[in-house]
Amino acid sequence: MRKPIIAGNWKLNKTSHESIEFVTLLKRYVSNVSDVDIVVCPVFTALCDIKDVLLETNIGLGAQNLFWEDAGAFTGEVSGLLLKDAGAEYVIIGHSERRQYFGETNQTVNKKIKAALKSGLIPIVCVGEVLEEREQNKTTKVVTTQMKEGLEGVSKEDVKRIIIAYEPVWAIGTGKTATPGQAQQVHQLIRQLLTQMCGEDVAQRVRIQYGGSVKPENIAELMAQPDIDGALVGGASLKVDSFVDIIKNSCVMKT
Ligand code: PGA
Repeated sequence: MRKPIIAGNWKLNKTSHESIEFVTLLKRYVSNVSDVDIVVCPVFTALCDIKDVLLETNIGLGAQNLFWEDAGAFTGEVSGLLLKDAGAEYVIIGHSERRQYFGETNQTVNKKIKAALKSGLIPIVCVGEVLEEREQNKTTKVVTTQMKEGLEGVSKEDVKRIIIAYEPVWAIGTGKTATPGQAQQVHQLIRQLLTQMCGEDVAQRVRIQYGGSVKPENIAELMAQPDIDGALVGGASLKVDSFVDIIKNSCVMKT
């Protein structure tokens, strides 16, 4: 049984003060939740501050990006080593906004995955097609390439530690969610690819999140799909109420 994981990707939002306020409330509302892993991913500058609020709670801490070198002349970058030092346990890698606005490719995603694993961080690796690719029936091809190139050279043991987030780019921040059937189809493809690459045992362990306009109203039907193991939530993770409702509504029986 894979334990569901709900992660909030706050993107470029919330000061340290606002982040502290948020997690202080959140930890009260979810203190009795034990069957779902909960993670928040604030901006880099808030990591250290909220780490202390999250000590001894059931809420994990994640960053939104990292650079693949540990140290050196790389102005403006942050390494896995430093993220660990700041208290992060997870790191989002290859989010579509990073691919779209910051030139990330499957090759840079691959380097970042290896660096994150080396630093002891759990990568949340994002894959997903843009609208044009879906309309041209290229979803399978795009996601297959992202998976194969992204995980190239990563050992089976390490793949077990990775979380994949399937985020159809046309569903991110648009209010348009993939139907549970559309999402399941790609989640199943991702699990098949993992089976081919790493064997059935590894594929059955890896958690695959769905992301793209997840809300309290649609999480249950998404989670009911056999290969959907959680969600990466953007907009609806910015308010405590809606994030808590998503966490609570995510505990459903699989079909
Ligand atoms: P959204 O974002 O929930 O606002 O669509 C999801 C994401 O970008 O991870």
